[in-house]
Amino acid sequence: MATRRAKISIIGAGNVGATCAHWAAAKELGDIVVLDIPDKEGMARAKMLDLACCAPIERFDASIVGTSDYKDIVGSDVVVITAGLPRKPGMSRDDLIQTNVKIVKSVAGQVAEHAPESIIIVVSNPLDAMVYTAWKASGFDTHRIVGQAGALDVARFKTFLSMALECSVEDISTLLLGGHGDDMVPLPRLTSVHGIPIADLLDEATITACVDRTKQGGGEIVKLQGTSAWYAPASGTIQMVEAIVKDKKRIIPCAAYCEDEFGVAPGQKGQGYFIGVPAVLGAGGVERVVDFKLVGEEVELMNESISHVKDLVGVVRTMFPELA
Ligand code: APR
Repeated sequence: MATRRAKISIIGAGNVGATCAHWAAAKELGDIVVLDIPDKEGMARAKMLDLACCAPIERFDASIVGTSDYKDIVGSDVVVITAGLPRKPGMSRDDLIQTNVKIVKSVAGQVAEHAPESIIIVVSNPLDAMVYTAWKASGFDTHRIVGQAGALDVARFKTFLSMALECSVEDISTLLLGGHGDDMVPLPRLTSVHGIPIADLLDEATITACVDRTKQGGGEIVKLQGTSAWYAPASGTIQMVEAIVKDKKRIIPCAAYCEDEFGVAPGQKGQGYFIGVPAVLGAGGVERVVDFKLVGEEVELMNESISHVKDLVGVVRTMFPELA
């Protein structure tokens, strides 16, 4: 007997949410529901009707629904939260915190009520604080809450390296840790082209320029178009969705719950943080964090990044004591 299709719900039918639906449909990952607030239900329905009509051309079979009714997300395997304000020029991701905590808190509560068995992927910014908010507001186990950051940041790093190397993005392997902000931790030491260390192929100044452009990649786009990016954030998100719905057990850097891992909150049971680390994503959500030893300045950079995430979560706890 055939197994049923996966069900993927996406909260927020804006640029990132609608583009997530686009990639998920194109990859035929399952049935799709995109939900927005009642005022924007028409937009959600229109975009999803439009997308559904691509099916005969792109050759996917899926039910694709736009809605404002949380009943439609019942039975979801994965729920992607993109609801919230995007950045405007001059804003950091952190500037969005007050508005987006309120939104993500209310959305995560609805997800817990209507799709209690789902795995939540958070995309709204400031990401590290929003994953924490979704965790507290949903009451889900930590392995069923994860944030999208590293998939995108690694993709940006590979893209800029491939431009410098004039080679295919497919031949580059790399990893990146830390929070989803300017203090993310790209790892040139673990970057290679078919195992050839990147330092043997590019000079230090070029590698540093690629690292810096990766850190500022989101800001570069905000500056150019007045709002934040959506193609690559959505693509990174759907890479995670695919790993989960196909139980691929891919190792993808993402904001996953850590205590002892990477020395985030050693021995502090239940007091950990969601930080960008490599994690095994499969049917169980975050099945395992892949901890490994950092060396030299990587340790310091990771500690700075962890401390920034802790500060951000501290802001959430102060503003919203019910989430502490
Ligand atoms: N419930 C559902 N949808 C909501 C809610 C809510 N409570 N509040 C806001 N939304 C919807 C908005 O109506 C809008 O359609 O979220 C959508 C956000 O879409 P955009 O404004 O286009 O923003 P987008 O570019 O998609 O970014 C969304 O993802 O990458 C992050 O920083 C980005 O935090 C931002 C989020």
